[in-house]
Amino acid sequence: MPGRHTPRLDEASAPKPPARRGPRGWRRPLLIAAIAAFGTPAGARNLEAPLPTAIAHAPAATRAMLEKSRPVTAQHAMVVSAQHLATLAGVQILKQGGNAIDAAVAVGYAEAVVHPCCGNLGGGGFMTIHLKDGRNLFLNFREKAPLKATPGMFQDAHGDVVPGRSTDSYLGVGVPGTVMGLDAALAKYGTMSLKQVMAPAIKLARDGYVLEQGDVDILDDSSGDFARHPNVAAIFLDHGKPFVAGQRLVQKDLAHTLELIADGGADAFYKGPIARAVVAASEARGGILSMQDFAGYTVQWEKPIECRYHGYTIISAPPPSSGGTTLCEILQIIQPYPFARWGYGSVQTVRHLAEAERRAFADRNTYLGDPAFVHNPIARLLSSEHAARLRATILPDRATPSSEIQGSLGAAEGNHTTHYSVIDRYGNAVSVTYTLNFLFGIRQIAGDTGFFLNDEMDDFTSKPGVANAAGLVQGTANEVQPGKRPLSSMTPTIVMKGGKPYLLTGSPGDATIISTTLQSILNVVDFGMNVQQAVNAPRMHQQWYPQAVWIEPGLLTPVSQRMLQAMGYTFKPVRAMGADEAILIDPATGIREGANDRRRPAGLAAGY
Ligand code: DON
Repeated sequence: MPGRHTPRLDEASAPKPPARRGPRGWRRPLLIAAIAAFGTPAGARNLEAPLPTAIAHAPAATRAMLEKSRPVTAQHAMVVSAQHLATLAGVQILKQGGNAIDAAVAVGYAEAVVHPCCGNLGGGGFMTIHLKDGRNLFLNFREKAPLKATPGMFQDAHGDVVPGRSTDSYLGVGVPGTVMGLDAALAKYGTMSLKQVMAPAIKLARDGYVLEQGDVDILDDSSGDFARHPNVAAIFLDHGKPFVAGQRLVQKDLAHTLELIADGGADAFYKGPIARAVVAASEARGGILSMQDFAGYTVQWEKPIECRYHGYTIISAPPPSSGGTTLCEILQIIQPYPFARWGYGSVQTVRHLAEAERRAFADRNTYLGDPAFVHNPIARLLSSEHAARLRATILPDRATPSSEIQGSLGAAEGNHTTHYSVIDRYGNAVSVTYTLNFLFGIRQIAGDTGFFLNDEMDDFTSKPGVANAAGLVQGTANEVQPGKRPLSSMTPTIVMKGGKPYLLTGSPGDATIISTTLQSILNVVDFGMNVQQAVNAPRMHQQWYPQAVWIEPGLLTPVSQRMLQAMGYTFKPVRAMGADEAILIDPATGIREGANDRRRPAGLAAGY
């Protein structure tokens, strides 16, 4: 674990004491609400319906909150992201005639400007795509370990993990993938030029944008780190002090970097002045990045993971993300359980979810790694026989100690992120999760490039059996090797119904990403929630180690919690978990229902 407290976005943007207001008690312009709002046309799903009966077990305050949760609706197209200006950049591209891929690239670049903790040029991620012609695609633009990386690089001479080395230094930086990823998606399936889709991001960086309270809450948590580096402080502090809501954040260096990319494409980033600046900064600060690392970086089109659950098809992330595999393994285990009858937040639901997750995460942490380096036994992990075997080990009346669970196939072979969803008028759907890993990555910017660099190397196993900063205890399948991609939990997902996209979902939150994405699906499919309720509802998480079940406030009634404790369950309360920016498409009418997660107050669902 890192020696210092590394802020997670979940903590950073969770509800806080009364906020400091900007100079004029700034509020989001009504215009945005007007763009977002759209009356419910005849024939649409009844979004005014009373709460589904499956929510009867939830605490009263949670039921009251869910009662008020309604998605934004639009007839043709929808974008949902964690920052409203990025959402509007996507809507602008869609209205100009772009498709969902054009809009997704525009949002990706815009978030690098207006959601700099997480949206990025200096990180990497994954894109799950459903094309209107029926094809399902997956783009892997995950960072790679530098060629000089070694399995023991995060340990000292005694073999102990050095706190902070993988999170606070240039050794934590993987070769970024975002620019090549967005370029590859646009070149293959977009219809617009890079210049067109990057125009909103360049404008936001050059002219600046007005910060909301939700934006400054995220910046605030890292202001101490910004102050340590003059080139970062010059941009992200206001004369040495944290910005307040209502002030304008201008990023001229970033605008210049974006212009170089708009003019020169990915080569400008990987073979030109941008790579040179990053390598120079890395060399000056003890890093190992080289020009060869940048020139040799590649993205990869892969076949997405697919599985079935209660009549729906789940399309999600394959390795080097563990997301789709673990999501599908959990769904396979819980498939026969009557969750709809047990209800959301009930003792039975929560404990069966926790036990299924405990077992699937043990497999995740033991067997999965970059498939270019290790064999991932996906077919066996997702088989119904394996699910049945694991189900049979769930005890009828008490918690299973995590220490009694091992990766169950026998010997192994071998906060920060953001999610957004886009659907266009043609039926193309894009679900993207990308990240710098921690908030603002290593919280350093190379020279005058204007963008933060990731600390994705912490997602590798620093030492087998020792938890990384996300608390994941992993094995050798995910050890560091030159050119290898660290195992991820990012789970950009498209749930299909009758061959058409039904639910676009995904989240930040390290290993909790998988649980958040899972519960958004269960909330809709099993508990009958609308998509806004599904993303707003309090969540839980279990990841093998630690033994505890993580719970958000409002998931369990005190009575349910006591009953679970009597069965041996322990709980780790977390203030907030994940941020699911989801879209549901009503199969009957095609109406797009967008839901910005209440945990990202600066976010927005908007469409037309
Ligand atoms: O790829 C992963 O699984 C992590 N690097 C994601 C980090 C993350 O979600 C942090 N955010 N809250």
